[in-house]
Amino acid sequence: MEITIPDKLVADLRRAEKVAVLTGAGVSAESGLPTFREAQTGLWSKYDPHQLASPGAFRSNPRLVWEWYAWRRSLALEATPNNGHVALENMSKMVSSFTLITQNVDGLHQRAGSRHAIELHGNITRVKCFDCGRISQQFNESDFVPPHCEFCDGLLRPDVVWFGESLPQKALSAAFTAAQNCDLFFSIGTSALVQPAALLPLEAVRNRAISAEINLEKTAISQNMDFFLPGPSGMILPALVKKVWPNLE
Ligand code: OAD
Repeated sequence: MEITIPDKLVADLRRAEKVAVLTGAGVSAESGLPTFREAQTGLWSKYDPHQLASPGAFRSNPRLVWEWYAWRRSLALEATPNNGHVALENMSKMVSSFTLITQNVDGLHQRAGSRHAIELHGNITRVKCFDCGRISQQFNESDFVPPHCEFCDGLLRPDVVWFGESLPQKALSAAFTAAQNCDLFFSIGTSALVQPAALLPLEAVRNRAISAEINLEKTAISQNMDFFLPGPSGMILPALVKKVWPNLE
């Protein structure tokens, strides 16, 4: 596939002082992890998300919800970061201020070295208690499904944001601060359909940042962005980084 990187975006990124990036499931697609809304292969192709990703679903069928997340957790742990994750980590080393905001819960950005990624929707490799909310350091899946909390004996659940739940406040405000103060904003591999994450690119545009979107296809926000780069992020991001910083190892 022929990748075209606009020269103006290369110049803009080379000059940028503060870069903010929002990623979605599309950046993990080339690591083999299914996205949400691609019907034929999407995570939800055989389930209705409201039957699984909500407190009500967990209350009525904790075992089913736990087992769906255990399956997704195993997929995430078996996956490896792809060239897009690595390119973002390389970019972070080249700009003076870089903020990575992700909607993904798979932990692949962190495994690519992005230790300060803002996780808007939590992380599937972490579990917490449904009752007392404390993060559980260890759990044994052989005794009970779901396992019980080591502190209060309540049921453990994945530490991810479910439908009807609010996002972690600290993460959300850090993400909006980054979007409001950056001079270049990337929206990568997200359908930009889920709020409040989908507001972030528009917040950056409102604050006169230069904006670029990388996606296989146009999305709800494409017409607001300065640049739209069609194609897989695992190919476009390395090509972009190479063009901006040719001597980067
Ligand atoms: P979606 O599945 O809604 O969108 C994935 C996007 O990635 C689509 O626009 C695809 O076109 C694009 N895409 C797929 N493969 C790609 C690739 N190789 N390179 C670039 N783009 C690619 O996933 P999200 O937008 O992340 O929320 O969904 C947002 C949220 O909706 C998720 O975080 C989840 C879900 O409800 C929670 O879990 C709270």
